[in-house]
Amino acid sequence: MVISDFDMTLSRFGCNGRRCPTSHNILDNSHVVSEDGKKKLKDLLHYYYPIEIDPDRTLEEKRPLMVEWWSRAHDLLSQQKILKGDIAQIVRESDVMLRDGFNELFDQLHEYDVPLFIFSAGVGDILEEIIRQANVFHPNVNVVSNYMDFDDNGVLRCFKGPLIHTYNKNNTVLQGTEYFQQLSTRTSIILLGDSMGDLTMADGVPSVENILKIGFLNDKVEEQRGKYLDAYDIVLESDETLDVVNGILRYILIET
Ligand code: TMP
Ligand code: MG
Repeated sequence: MVISDFDMTLSRFGCNGRRCPTSHNILDNSHVVSEDGKKKLKDLLHYYYPIEIDPDRTLEEKRPLMVEWWSRAHDLLSQQKILKGDIAQIVRESDVMLRDGFNELFDQLHEYDVPLFIFSAGVGDILEEIIRQANVFHPNVNVVSNYMDFDDNGVLRCFKGPLIHTYNKNNTVLQGTEYFQQLSTRTSIILLGDSMGDLTMADGVPSVENILKIGFLNDKVEEQRGKYLDAYDIVLESDETLDVVNGILRYILIET
């Protein structure tokens, strides 16, 4: 099976020198968020993102600060009267891009009946809409993420728990391991991530024999390279494609 992060792993980090949005940023930048809301969300991003990727802070130091960031961002978004019915248009109008080769990845996994588990600290409703609009939301895809909770009128009132942030992506937020139990015949995993927090995404899998961890090193490359090389089996720099994983899958699924 494949276990993958979404933001900046399946989606692109940059294009022509410009940053691409995360699923949160898509909402933040959209017409449904007020100017005041936009400013506050941007202030949070500028304060907390450098902490998220700071190689000199431990995960223990970062965890409570990430809970603070996500909670504050979700509270702000929940004050914006976002409509469930607006999500598709918000995604359509955004600058989000999936990495080159996403079609081959999703279609190949579907064709060969390989489960794709997307484990994301982003916004589930947004990322599902992205893959739906890209026509790759096949039945072998399962998503665990932060989902919006809408009232009877379809207005966002809060986010459903448990809150998933960059550094609690492990079985503590998977509410039991039923999903993985169903897949207990799957003993080989390819894990895709872009953060040091993505390394624990496969922790709940009961019968792992082989795991290949592929990491996209997107930001603060020089400072983070050592840690990424120690933790991931393959580290990709300046690579906005899924070519490496597609090549490996082609080899495993077709040529062997
Ligand atoms: P993930 O890629 O591990 O799923 O994490 C989601 C990313 O979303 C993480 O890098 C931080 C980012 N983020 C925002 O861009 N804006 C926000 O408001 C929040 C809470 C997170
Ligand atoms: Mg990510």
